[in-house]
Amino acid sequence: AATLTGRDFLTIAEFTEDELMTFLNTAVALKTMQKQGVPHHFLNGQTLAMIFEKASTRTRVAFEVGMYHLGGSALYLSSKDIQIGRGETIADTAKVLSRFVDGIMIRTFGHDVVEELAANADVPVINGLTDTHHPTQIIADLLTIYEHKGKIGGLKACFIGDGYNNMAHSLMEGAAAFGMDMTVASPKGYEPDTAIFEAAKARGAKNGCMIAITDSPQEAAEDCDVVITDTWLSMGDEAEKDKRLHDFQGFQVDDALVSLAKPDHIFMHCLPAHRGEEVTESVIDGDHSVVFDEAENRLHAHKAILKCLMEKDA
Ligand code: CP
Ligand code: NVA
Repeated sequence: AATLTGRDFLTIAEFTEDELMTFLNTAVALKTMQKQGVPHHFLNGQTLAMIFEKASTRTRVAFEVGMYHLGGSALYLSSKDIQIGRGETIADTAKVLSRFVDGIMIRTFGHDVVEELAANADVPVINGLTDTHHPTQIIADLLTIYEHKGKIGGLKACFIGDGYNNMAHSLMEGAAAFGMDMTVASPKGYEPDTAIFEAAKARGAKNGCMIAITDSPQEAAEDCDVVITDTWLSMGDEAEKDKRLHDFQGFQVDDALVSLAKPDHIFMHCLPAHRGEEVTESVIDGDHSVVFDEAENRLHAHKAILKCLMEKDA
C-alpha cells in the first residue's frame, strides 16, 4: 500500500487495477477485523475534516464512524457554517485545514472545486461526491459485487437512467479497470460525459471488456449479472424535476426489465432511492436486491481508503 500513502482520491480513473485491488483487499481485511472485534487503530490520533456542500447520510456516517474505528476522529463542516459560505477561497481553506488535520474529505458541486482543494492542500484530499464523480461509492460497489459474485472481471453490468451522473461515470471507470462489461442506458440528452465515456471505453478495451452506451434499457439489461440505477434527480437538479420525471419515462427498473437479466443477477442502488421513480418497490425490496449490503460496505470501503492514504509508516 506504500504507493498510496499521501495520495489524493479524486476519481477511480487515476488508480491502477493493482491500487484499486489494494483498496478492496484492505476493505475485506478491515471488515473481518471489525466483525471479529479485533481493534484496528491504524490512524491513532489522526483527524479528518469533512466539508459538505450537499446533504449526506451514508457518506458522512461512514467516514465519521470509520475514523473512530481507526482510532482517530472526524469533524463535520457544513459549508453553510464555515467561511467558504461567506466567500473564503477553496485554496485558503485547503492551506488552513492542512495545518490542523491529517486528511480532508469534500462533497461539492463542480469537480474543479475538489481539484483546486487537492492542489492547495498538503494532506490527502478525498472526493466524497461531485456532480460528475462518486469514487468512494464505487469502491463499496466493487466490494459488494465481489462478495456476491466472487469476481468482477468477466461479469456483465448495466446502469439504467441518468447517464450524465456521478454514479454512471464512476461505475464506467471502475468496470473498465476491472474488465467488467458495462452498458449505460439513458434517454437522449442524458448520455454520459463524452470524455469520461471515451476514456473508460479505451481502458476497457485494453482490459478485454466493453463499455457502451444505448438508449434502450432492454438492450442494456439483457443477460446482465448486475443491474444498477440511481436517482433521476441528483442533488443540484431539483429545478428540473418535472422535465426529468417526464424525460425518464420508460427507464424505470421494474420486474419486466430485470426479467431480461440473468436469473441470479443482483440489483444495486447507491441510495437514497425513490421508489416508483427510478425503481419499483418490488425490485429494490425484492430477493435480488443487495442495496443494504452495498450501503454497509461504504463503511468498510471508506476505512480502507483512509488507511491506505493516511497511515503513517505504512
Ligand atoms: N450513496 C450516498 O453517497 O449516500 P449519501 O448521499 O447519504 O451520503
Ligand atoms: N447521483 C446522486 C447520488 C447521491 C448519493 C446525487 O448526486 O445526488
